[in-house]
Amino acid sequence: MPSTPLHAEEEVSSLKERIAALGPWFHNMRLGGVQTAPDHFLGDYPQIKYERFSDALPQDLRGKTVLDIGCNGGFYSLEMKRRGAERVLGIDTDDHYLAQARFAAEVSEMDVEFRRMSVWELGGLNERFDLVIFMGVLYHLRHPLLALDLIHEHVARDLLLFQSMQRGSRSIAHVDPDYDFHADAHFDEPGYPKMHFVEHRYSHDETNWWVPNRACVEAMLRSSGFTICSQPEDEVYICRWKPVEVPPDGPHCVYPATGRGKA
Ligand SMILES: C[S@@+](CC[C@H](N)C(=O)[O-])C[C@H]1O[C@@H](n2cnc3c(N)ncnc32)[C@H](O)[C@@H]1O
Repeated sequence: MPSTPLHAEEEVSSLKERIAALGPWFHNMRLGGVQTAPDHFLGDYPQIKYERFSDALPQDLRGKTVLDIGCNGGFYSLEMKRRGAERVLGIDTDDHYLAQARFAAEVSEMDVEFRRMSVWELGGLNERFDLVIFMGVLYHLRHPLLALDLIHEHVARDLLLFQSMQRGSRSIAHVDPDYDFHADAHFDEPGYPKMHFVEHRYSHDETNWWVPNRACVEAMLRSSGFTICSQPEDEVYICRWKPVEVPPDGPHCVYPATGRGKA
């Protein structure tokens, strides 16, 4: 019967057309056997990265909730749904990527919610999640530490899966709890926490604002109230939420609940 193969061929060709119309894609996904970004400059991305740390995440997410901040084409959201997560919410500020994510979920027949929302609006979400994914977004923000504080204060309940581009030294210098005003040699140590400010562009991208070194990433996570449990891949951290101590000069952060969620 030639009708079945012909039908399948038509389906693949219509899928290819829809994928092309939604492009360009940053996430190379396999939708109905068709790759969305086969010529990605980082290779089979993010699949190749995911394979390096996926075993460090809970295999079984049944009954758990997941928030994927900066979800892009929805790769990680769909992977968490595949692990059985009860609810997955992916948020992003870019409608182009959100359309891709919704299409990917539809083709994969997965019930995942995608919403246009910024990390700055997390205070309005009024919901905490068992796993928060914050991969590849920190360095695209003008106020990166504020984003981590907001995640801690408003949406994280237990696990944080975090990734940032890093540049500079990979060493971690010992940092004393305090220094004399005239002591400044430690600032020049390569392993002292440092964040490089990009006034113009990095890698042809004007949204790359800050690029931390490894010591800085780890210090920022700790400072925002996340205990680093493991670093399964060079840039990837799995952290656990913990209560923050209120500094003597006032509350840790006092950000009003803003956004389109309930007040
Ligand atoms: C480099 S991509 C990372 C995508 C994905 N998380 C990953 O690791 O493959 C950065 C994503 O963050 C989104 N983004 C940028 N600023 C954001 C913001 N303020 N709030 C939420 N998402 C944001 C971008 O639209 C983009 O989809």
